[in-house]
Amino acid sequence: MRADVTTARAKAKAINFAQKLALIDRPWSPRVVAEMNDDSPANLQFKLVKLEGEFVWHAHADTDETFLVVAGTLHMQFRDRVEVLQAGEMIVVPRGVEHCPRADGECHVLLIEPRGVVNTGEAGGELTAPNDVWV
Ligand code: NI
Repeated sequence: MRADVTTARAKAKAINFAQKLALIDRPWSPRVVAEMNDDSPANLQFKLVKLEGEFVWHAHADTDETFLVVAGTLHMQFRDRVEVLQAGEMIVVPRGVEHCPRADGECHVLLIEPRGVVNTGEAGGELTAPNDVWV
């Protein structure tokens, strides 16, 4: 069996969101739970994150960013409107589009985006989280 196939099969394990979320102790701090196409330009990471309160306005110049709501309610604020998402709903934020997530209570989200995306985009600030931290 080829080594890369062995590696891929070793990764093919069920990932339990509740178990992973229990290990995340602070909001706005995405944790990688899985990755696909690791060494390809088509790379994507799956990150669980807890949202609470309001984030910062920012955009990602080079990539779209997908938010899939696992629990709670997400208010995805755009400059011209707000999209309200419940658990079981998702939204793709297009590259370059300013957005500011807000959650009035605690909200759990699965982020899907390429490795290396900074959570605050080019805005920076104290809510900028370290990248590529796995849980
Ligand atoms: Ni963003």
